[in-house]
Amino acid sequence: MASHDEIQVWRMNLDRPASEVQELRGVLSEDETARAARFVFDRHRARFIVGRASLRRILARYLGQAPERLNFGYGHRGKPFLKTGSDGNRLRFNLSHSGELALLAVIRARRIGVDVERIREVREHLRLAGRYFAPGEVAAIRALPPEVQYQAFFNCWTRKEAYIKALGTGLACPLDGFEVSLTPGTPAALLRVNDDPNASSEWFMKALDPGPGYVGALALKGAGYRVTFWEWGETDRRVD
Ligand SMILES: CC(C)(COP(=O)(O)OP(=O)(O)OC[C@H]1O[C@@H](n2cnc3c(N)ncnc32)[C@H](O)[C@@H]1OP(=O)(O)O)[C@@H](O)C(=O)NCCC(=O)NCCS
Repeated sequence: MASHDEIQVWRMNLDRPASEVQELRGVLSEDETARAARFVFDRHRARFIVGRASLRRILARYLGQAPERLNFGYGHRGKPFLKTGSDGNRLRFNLSHSGELALLAVIRARRIGVDVERIREVREHLRLAGRYFAPGEVAAIRALPPEVQYQAFFNCWTRKEAYIKALGTGLACPLDGFEVSLTPGTPAALLRVNDDPNASSEWFMKALDPGPGYVGALALKGAGYRVTFWEWGETDRRVD
């Protein structure tokens, strides 16, 4: 990665042939292997293995290390980070998955959050929004024509998740305590944070377009970032 203001976003397809899953399993640590064993459904287990192993392989490439030698630590709400050693302490990342798709955002020196969701029909989406989102967001969704409300709902969801994933707080940060933009066709933005009046001008938020039927977002503090897109697979390549 050339500069500190470049964010590289990797897209991965988590549904891989069994032989490849078997091979990827070999790079997992003991605790990751134990976690994989706890999945009830084989499909979910395989996706976790592919996601974690690909995360290791991609980060290992940046660091010039063997994937199985990377050491992850976890924040008190479970956010994984690279433990110090080599320059691992300066490389930051965040991973998100939905269905067969995963996104990994990588940057130097800044904590970052990424989220991806498959756009789907959500039963009682307005009630759900009313329960979790800020009042201004609920009103903005309600004001839209019904045919774009699911897209707006998932724009809102992914942007909120990207923000709390950057913070690493999980749901300890109340989802209705801050507001994001959500109207399809308008730029992603952190509009307001209840207990942090400067936040909206201090945070960078960007909508990601991971492919048909999916929506994504990333969030981090700062400005002027350049985002590039990469595909992880048999041959990794830049795709934007
Ligand atoms: C991590 C969290 C913030 C998001 O999880 P999620 O959206 O379900 O899942 P994602 O696929 O986007 O992210 C999971 C990945 O984020 C990372 N992660 C785990 N804990 C994290 C944290 N506290 N902060 C940031 N990233 C975290 C891990 O890499 C994890 O991957 P893994 O499960 O393969 O180890 C979780 O705390 C959570 O519970 N979210 C609630 C979702 C929800 O109900 N939203 C309501 C919106 S209406």
